[in-house]
Amino acid sequence: MKDTITVGLLGLGTVGSGVIEILEDHKESIQHKTGCDVTIKTVLVSNLTKPRDIDNTSTKLTDRYEDITQDPDIDVVVEVMGGIDHTLTILREAIENGKHIVTANKDLVAQHGAELFEASSRNQCDLFYEASVAGGIPIIRSILDGLSSDKIRKMMGIVNGTTNYILTKMTKEGVDFDSVLKEAQELGFAEADPTADVDGLDAARKMTILSILGFSMPFNLEDVEVKGIRGISLADIQYARQLGYSVKLIGVAEHDETGVAVNVEPTLLPVEHPLSSVNDEYNAVYVYGDAVGETMFYGPGAGKLPTATAVVSDLIAVVKSLRLGTSGSAYVQPQFPKQVKEKKDQLTKKYMRLHVHDQPGMLMELTKIFAEYGISFDQIIQREADKDDERELMMVTHQVSEEDFKRAYNDLESLSSIRSVDSVFRVEGSN
Ligand SMILES: NC(=O)c1ccc[n+]([C@@H]2O[C@H](COP(=O)([O-])OP(=O)(O)OC[C@H]3O[C@@H](n4cnc5c(N)ncnc54)[C@H](OP(=O)(O)O)[C@@H]3O)[C@@H](O)[C@H]2O)c1
Repeated sequence: MKDTITVGLLGLGTVGSGVIEILEDHKESIQHKTGCDVTIKTVLVSNLTKPRDIDNTSTKLTDRYEDITQDPDIDVVVEVMGGIDHTLTILREAIENGKHIVTANKDLVAQHGAELFEASSRNQCDLFYEASVAGGIPIIRSILDGLSSDKIRKMMGIVNGTTNYILTKMTKEGVDFDSVLKEAQELGFAEADPTADVDGLDAARKMTILSILGFSMPFNLEDVEVKGIRGISLADIQYARQLGYSVKLIGVAEHDETGVAVNVEPTLLPVEHPLSSVNDEYNAVYVYGDAVGETMFYGPGAGKLPTATAVVSDLIAVVKSLRLGTSGSAYVQPQFPKQVKEKKDQLTKKYMRLHVHDQPGMLMELTKIFAEYGISFDQIIQREADKDDERELMMVTHQVSEEDFKRAYNDLESLSSIRSVDSVFRVEGSN
């Protein structure tokens, strides 16, 4: 049995430097838990001339990934560099050379997880990725282990800290989307190119991973319907409050006898719902299981030490299975064929905000169109709009299928009284 497990680290940025810090600061406790030393031999970076706060005597920096993938001394590769195609090439080679993998890379796991799991199983290697969803929250282990005896019906996640920070600021300070985004970029909470965050792609990748694990079906990113937060106005947030809701970017994955639907979209949640109180850059995942009922996992979704905690915990799991001789046995293939719900079976409540021409019978005309598809309203508020002859309507439907809602929505165009439909959001958690 080895006394020392040797690690190759890919990336020494925010998370990579946190991994080194935790391995140093918690050295004794990690030794106690694993029964051996864990040392980082080589670190891959792209710029060797950048000043680094790292002990060069025991750890070598390189810009050649082969120094890690082809080093027979290295047992485990910890990937915290990000990226997709080039990183995939590196991890493929590492796995084929028998290295165990820990990664924080949701982009890679969501897009190429199936291939990497197949390769690692074939090579009796472990592949863990706890940090890829919700940073410091141990949600993957909770689903795979803690809730493994249950049947998960629904998962709802605030899994993108940037958008949650933006929506919290808009709600609490009444600042519009563009100004908050700019401030978030200046503070380093949002990327210079915020597309993946604000357009919902980052959350969709995480919901893909959670759906594969929660429902044991081989989903991919294309199965997720995605709508980001760019279209959200302060007016929507304020009216939602009047109706008793908060506005959050929520990933919803639900499973019933008609299949699974996975959506990421701006969603109205009752203010008393536990996810409504998840603010700023925090993440949370709400899981509903047949037997356990409601559970919620809350914590920091990103950041140097929270994310590195998840990475190092995965590393400890790899080391334990290496020492027990059980490497490569943790991965279980999805058990069921993919079953994606049809639109007619996707039932939700909807919020709509629209400007209408203020004329007698207008509301009746409008509700008649929805009634033709069996859609009724739970809440309606109206107020005078800025223009004399206009009114603004905010409406929340009862449960409606996506298909019927779309048909009714299309029929609205035939009404001369409709000036504009300003927003349509999902409503969750109140049925
Ligand atoms: N930051 C978080 O809070 C967080 C949370 C959850 C998951 N993650 C995931 O963790 C990963 C790393 O994130 P991060 O924030 O730590 O990134 P980062 O701060 O940008 O660091 C990236 C590191 O990887 C190196 N690198 C990048 N591309 C490379 C290449 N082609 N060849 C060699 N080295 C390369 C960089 O080298 P140089 O130092 O030379 O530039 C840098 O050290 C990403 O997959 C991210 O999605 C991050």
